[in-house]
Amino acid sequence: MEIIAHRGASGYAPENTVAAFKKAVCMGAKSVEFDVQMTKDGQLVVIHDYSLDRTTTGAGMVMETTYDELKELDAGSWYSREFAGEKVPLLSEVLSVFPSDMTINIEIKKATLETRQVELDVYQLVKDMHLLDQVIFSSFDHHCLKKLLNIEGIRVGVLISSAMIEPITYLMKNGLNNYSLNQNADFIDETFVKNAHAKGLKVFSYTVNTKKIGQYFESIGVDGIFTNYPDLLND
Ligand code: G3P
Ligand code: MG
Repeated sequence: MEIIAHRGASGYAPENTVAAFKKAVCMGAKSVEFDVQMTKDGQLVVIHDYSLDRTTTGAGMVMETTYDELKELDAGSWYSREFAGEKVPLLSEVLSVFPSDMTINIEIKKATLETRQVELDVYQLVKDMHLLDQVIFSSFDHHCLKKLLNIEGIRVGVLISSAMIEPITYLMKNGLNNYSLNQNADFIDETFVKNAHAKGLKVFSYTVNTKKIGQYFESIGVDGIFTNYPDLLND
């Protein structure tokens, strides 16, 4: 089962910072996940919340903040003093951290009032950096995934967060059956996994931070877990 460092090794360093990504690499993670948004002036940055309040020294919305303003903020000291000085990184900086054998799951976040085609800019940057083979694009916004699926050779993971009645039928009907179904850990059982596998889809689950659930998911054939602890299943 694939172990995916969720927001980097975010159990050991502030989420979605270069420190968390380097830590994931050092710990030997073979896959990583992080969240991407666009600043007011169109820069792609790696941060989870739409608001700056929880994980930086700033306040307000990421999409209403320019990159020049953002780079003055501290994104590490909320976690611990040891990480003071960490920044909200650019997507390009983050993509430079990973070795070529790592799988990179980029989650595209779109806030309520975000109307820009963030996904196309993300795609273009990944393409320009020659990383398409390493990247899986994912989002809870399935419209944005649909747009990406018009591009040949792209891998897409469809994020869902509820116990849908017929998720596979939904994916097939909407042309979203591409690579994986990324489901909330609360709603995965053996049948879910079997149904996805029967249609050639992988199942990834977020967020799994206990060994017990990790081992259970491994036993029922889940293909990968997003975890804050890349060493979760180590002995
Ligand atoms: O991509 C998996 C997971 O990160 C989705 O939820 O809220 O942690 O971005 P969230
Ligand atoms: Mg995420």
